[in-house]
Amino acid sequence: MDTVTRRVGRKRGVGHNGNMIHQLPSTQDAWITSFDGTLRSLCTHATAAPPVWVEDVSRVQHATDAPFDAQETRLSATERAESGALMRINHVGEVCAQALYNAQALGARIWCRNEQLARHFEAAGREEGLHLAWTKQRLNDLGDRPSVLNPFWYAGAFAIGLLASRLGEATSLGFVVETERQVEAHLAGHLDRLPVNDTASRAVVAQMKADEARHANDAQKAGAAELPRAVKLVMKAAAKVMTTVAHKI
Ligand SMILES: [Fe+2]
Ligand SMILES: [Fe+2]
Repeated sequence: MDTVTRRVGRKRGVGHNGNMIHQLPSTQDAWITSFDGTLRSLCTHATAAPPVWVEDVSRVQHATDAPFDAQETRLSATERAESGALMRINHVGEVCAQALYNAQALGARIWCRNEQLARHFEAAGREEGLHLAWTKQRLNDLGDRPSVLNPFWYAGAFAIGLLASRLGEATSLGFVVETERQVEAHLAGHLDRLPVNDTASRAVVAQMKADEARHANDAQKAGAAELPRAVKLVMKAAAKVMTTVAHKI
């Protein structure tokens, strides 16, 4: 069995095979951790975390060779509006990613009793937190705004994440694989649609796309189950509703 899916219930220390094991928090502590994650996700402002943003913008720059200064001056009003709409969709996607990983980490603790799996989800969630900051920063720079429905998107995704984790570890990981692959394909579509001159947004989307592919691969390696085709189609339909609405509001 993969190390991530190994159940652990002992105090922090080294297991029989040399892997680090961690003490499971109480159910109450797991809920408090999750609630803290929810507040951070919904109240995060890109400007509140400049070191992370500055540090990781340089990572994005390095990945794409795209300069980040004076991007907006090269965009027409129409291009800026379209970039803003697409980045609003991506910001909503990252709000949902926060909710999903937060809920799945909670589910891993209270139902699967698997602290390592919870930490796997939290590690991916932290990278999604960077995506959240990047997309919010692009919205700011483009003079646009996040979706007013973000609390609604978060609540819906959180409920779906809880449901996925209630169905077991393999299904929960399978849900991550399918979600991340759909997001990766969606981001590839945005690279076709974003204005050529908006190199800053394109750099962010390209880096996010690479990260989402890695998240899918990591979940696959951790023991994900293949989801039924009908479930994948429902997920695609739900994502279509979200992207269509978020393009406008
Ligand atoms: Fe992401
Ligand atoms: Fe991801």
